[in-house]
Amino acid sequence: MSLKSRLMQRCFDLARLGAGYASPNPMVGAVLACGEKIIGEGYFVKDGGPHAEVMAVRSVKPADRKLIKQSTLYVSLEPCNIYGRTPPCTNLILEEGIPHVIVAARDLTPGVNGSGLKRLQEHGVIVEEAVLSAQGKILSEYRNVFVSKNRPYVLLKYAQTANNLLAPKDGSTQWLTNGFSKRLVHKWRTETDAILIGAGTARADNPALTARLYPGKSPRRVVIDRNGNLPPSLKLFDGTAPTLVFRQSKSSTGSNITFFQHDFTQADWLPKLLTQLSGQKIAHLTVEGGAWLLQEFVAQDLWDEARVFTTSANWSDGLPAPRLGKKAAKEFLLQQDHLTVHYNF
Ligand SMILES: NC(=O)c1ccc[n+]([C@@H]2O[C@H](COP(=O)([O-])OP(=O)(O)OC[C@H]3O[C@@H](n4cnc5c(N)ncnc54)[C@H](OP(=O)(O)O)[C@@H]3O)[C@@H](O)[C@H]2O)c1
Repeated sequence: MSLKSRLMQRCFDLARLGAGYASPNPMVGAVLACGEKIIGEGYFVKDGGPHAEVMAVRSVKPADRKLIKQSTLYVSLEPCNIYGRTPPCTNLILEEGIPHVIVAARDLTPGVNGSGLKRLQEHGVIVEEAVLSAQGKILSEYRNVFVSKNRPYVLLKYAQTANNLLAPKDGSTQWLTNGFSKRLVHKWRTETDAILIGAGTARADNPALTARLYPGKSPRRVVIDRNGNLPPSLKLFDGTAPTLVFRQSKSSTGSNITFFQHDFTQADWLPKLLTQLSGQKIAHLTVEGGAWLLQEFVAQDLWDEARVFTTSANWSDGLPAPRLGKKAAKEFLLQQDHLTVHYNF
């Protein structure tokens, strides 16, 4: 791996430390290096905080500050060029006299989207964009979907039998994956803004959708309860995490529950529901089933990533898992569970 790739990889590793807390802002990591020597590094810790570039510059020891003017700033995402809650990072780069900036992906936020890089170039900064750009795109895609498509990044997560069945036909619960996979799923829960399920899954599995098996924050819970007939005794309604409920008819509020009136008779009910979630600052949404809801996302091509556990179980009958039509980009083995990751971009 070249020096540039190694330092960009370090940016990605730093960026991921903000998983679950950066959103709806992007996870961003930055490294300031003078040749091979890292003199500063930082990442975007949480929404509203200083940007990764600021953290990296602030971390430079006084004795190394004289090296900044000969250093290269590696950033996983294009530096911002707009006044938000903090001043533009392009200002900082120019004020510090950093002569060389390498990014892995563009920031599609309106007002940035290439203009950050252009401004730096116009002021004589050498800008490079093609270092680990495929991985950079994956890291920042949730933010870019959120700001450019008016909906959250949609991650489908499900388990299937070896013969592609997702659930028994009678609406009962059949656990498919092992304890390692289950723990991994709880880690993912700490990294997403919200988890969405359908009424069938809420009824059959009574899931809590919290991150109990991994340290970190629990996501918001979202359930589609079209007819408003889910029992209030479900764990989803226990008030332990915020829950958003979408119903055809108007409902009053409950403890830690927000009801949304939504017209499910319209053909575009699903994109409209996603727009509503986007309005709630949900930039990264995980869909955890069931069969009907997952199929709706696939049929309407409203998904960005899928994480699929395929187990050795072989049922004679059941509800079919979605057919993604996208080859696996990554594969892992968790004992006997086969995990594949698919991207739809
Ligand atoms: N293997 C996995 O990874 C996994 C993950 C999650 C769940 N599951 C399993 O999946 C099963 C539940 O799957 P599911 O497909 O029944 O549940 P679902 O997708 O969670 O929800 C289905 C519900 O959506 C509502 N709905 C609205 N419009 C519909 C339409 N046009 N067609 C069908 N349903 C519509 C219906 O409820 P209303 O009539 O009340 O609106 C229906 O019961 C359970 O056995 C659960 O254990 C498996």
